Amino acid sequence: MQDILVLGIESSCDETAAAVVKNGRQVLSNVISSQIDIHTLYGGVVPEIASRKHMEKINQVIEESLSEAGVTLSEVDAISVTYGPGLVGALLVGVGEAKAIAYAAQKPLVGVHHIEGHIAANYIEHPDLEPPFLCLVVSGGHTHLVQVREYNTFEVIGCTHDDAAGEAFDKVARAIGLGYPGGPKIDKTAKAGNPDAIAFPHAKIAGAEFDFSFSGVKSAVLNYLNQCEMKGQEIVQADVAASFQKAVVDVLVERAVAAAKKLGEKRIAVAGGVAANTSLRERMQEECKKEGITLYYPSPVFCTDNAAMIAVQGYYGYIAGKRSGWDLNAVPNLKIGCN
Ligand code: KG4
Ligand code: ZN
Repeated sequence: MQDILVLGIESSCDETAAAVVKNGRQVLSNVISSQIDIHTLYGGVVPEIASRKHMEKINQVIEESLSEAGVTLSEVDAISVTYGPGLVGALLVGVGEAKAIAYAAQKPLVGVHHIEGHIAANYIEHPDLEPPFLCLVVSGGHTHLVQVREYNTFEVIGCTHDDAAGEAFDKVARAIGLGYPGGPKIDKTAKAGNPDAIAFPHAKIAGAEFDFSFSGVKSAVLNYLNQCEMKGQEIVQADVAASFQKAVVDVLVERAVAAAKKLGEKRIAVAGGVAANTSLRERMQEECKKEGITLYYPSPVFCTDNAAMIAVQGYYGYIAGKRSGWDLNAVPNLKIGCN
């Protein structure tokens, strides 16, 4: 069989990324230009700055990804790009670029759903992983339980009613003075804290056993901080971080494992930025082992935003015959399983 090379492009939030992937599984290059430093100055992602930074970096990042992979644009079989969900201005830079180079080089264009890309990140280091499986998607903007039926067929069986898990991490980190980006900072700080120091709520949604809600735990942390301040009580940052993290991780693990048991899924994959969380990985591993479920998760670099995952999902779309037209546009609120 002839090798298939896909160039992936990702610009939905604050990473400008390009990657070349061979046959959907072998990463030949994975270039990521992070904007974290500049957004840190503002305590979070500033959409207009993100778009401008993508515009500045995108050609350089693509050039680097091709040269690192040792291929030219003409040797690539298809170009895949994230077209949603995400920040509209940020997405437009990647989509515009992908359309321009696909048009100029006369290559097929495959638009990829960002979350489907996160799920596909699991294929990179797990050659044995193939659908069907259950995926817990936990990113800055999404918390979903997804049944991956086939490479291009997804069924959402649970989602958050308010904040995403990563969003809660980011907001709580800001409130306890850890700053942006919150997830990795809480992860690190929590290691020195007592997860049972403060009992934060574990929200359940009546009538929707696999759905999530994280605004309650976030508000509980804010109330706790206010009460401490009013009482003149010292805040132990590590204990708050560890207790908050436990509340979130408990719920994610419990619901993912319950869903797998109910659906008869013997494999769970975790995807998205929060999948890099040490405690989530450990707790998932423990509970999956008890239930005889095999757990998959990507290395941290493939958990957070990257273009390799977009090239992987782009490959599975490409071999299934998916093609995007020259009218491909950014869709900031793109639903999963719609493309
Ligand atoms: O998937 P991602 O890179 O971007 C989105 O698609 O949203 O996820 C970013 C989110 C942020 O909220 C960040 O705080 C969180 O993932 N995150 C983590 C960790 N690393 C990144 N959350 C908890 N623990 C981590 N180690
Ligand atoms: Zn993402």
